[in-house]
Amino acid sequence: MLQKFLSEDLTIYGADDYRFLDSGDGRRLEQFGSYRLIRPCPVAYWRRERPDLWETADAVHERGRGGEGHWKRQRPLPSQWPINWQGLRLIIKPTAFGHLGLFPEHAVHWPWLTEQLSGTAGARPSPVLHLFAYSGAMTLVAARAGANLCHVDAVADTVAWARRNAAASGLDQRPIRWIKDDVMKFTAREIRRHRRYEGIILDPPSYGKGPAGERWILEKDLTPLLERLAPLLSERPRFVLFTCHSTGFSPALMRNLLADFAATVGGHLQSGTMLLSDEGLRRQLPCGYYVRWMPSKSATKTA
Ligand SMILES: C[S@@+](CC[C@H](N)C(=O)[O-])C[C@H]1O[C@@H](n2cnc3c(N)ncnc32)[C@H](O)[C@@H]1O
Repeated sequence: MLQKFLSEDLTIYGADDYRFLDSGDGRRLEQFGSYRLIRPCPVAYWRRERPDLWETADAVHERGRGGEGHWKRQRPLPSQWPINWQGLRLIIKPTAFGHLGLFPEHAVHWPWLTEQLSGTAGARPSPVLHLFAYSGAMTLVAARAGANLCHVDAVADTVAWARRNAAASGLDQRPIRWIKDDVMKFTAREIRRHRRYEGIILDPPSYGKGPAGERWILEKDLTPLLERLAPLLSERPRFVLFTCHSTGFSPALMRNLLADFAATVGGHLQSGTMLLSDEGLRRQLPCGYYVRWMPSKSATKTA
């Protein structure tokens, strides 16, 4: 039998205080508020489209051995600063790994996430679990839509950063449980406690560490974690959103990873590439992959 799957690449264009300016020659150029930053981008094999703009960068991230690197400042750059992006106020902080506290490509999901949670505000907000939650932008979008969040990350400073983003965005009074824990330990405990969620968001890295040094290795731990999605979901689930930036992934691979889950619980899958671009650019930069699961009755109305 021929099975049809919904496959759709989704592009986010810069707006507000975030602009994707260009990519090429193994790098990307972006603007966060008043500052223009260059970061390594191995998949940008092509030539730059706007070479003149690169001269205006305030800092360049240069990778060292083992992933860590340093920022070479061309002009004075603060250690952190806030930006306004899609109705949130988020603190940008250049880190040694070149991360800044925002994965702008994730914003392709924000309208969809808000739509999945429509009608949740009020007497009984939908419980949503966010794993590998980092600096919390997706937590805040779900909380803004009225959900009751459980935000889980291994690193105390990262959880504190997410809480500062919540306060800066005026969402710190929303129902959010801020959890510093290892994802595998926490999800096992939640299943034992019979805690159930109507939505689950996860953005696992290739490698990570829990607070007590528990190792997260994507190739070993991902399948056992995905097997916990069904037991963690309530009887009337609304969505699963799984994103990944690891090398070798693809929309088809993402779909395959949730195929057993969808076969067990029903519903349908949509997967694709997350892309970044700017008005007038010829290219869209691939920045990771996603797969969404939705129960059968819900159609994908929002990109
Ligand atoms: C930044 S996100 C993933 C980003 C993106 N997908 C990538 O690959 O670069 C990774 C987050 O997962 C958290 N993390 C890593 N291992 C973890 C674990 N075992 N339990 C909980 N959180 C973990 C990190 O602290 C970090 O905030």
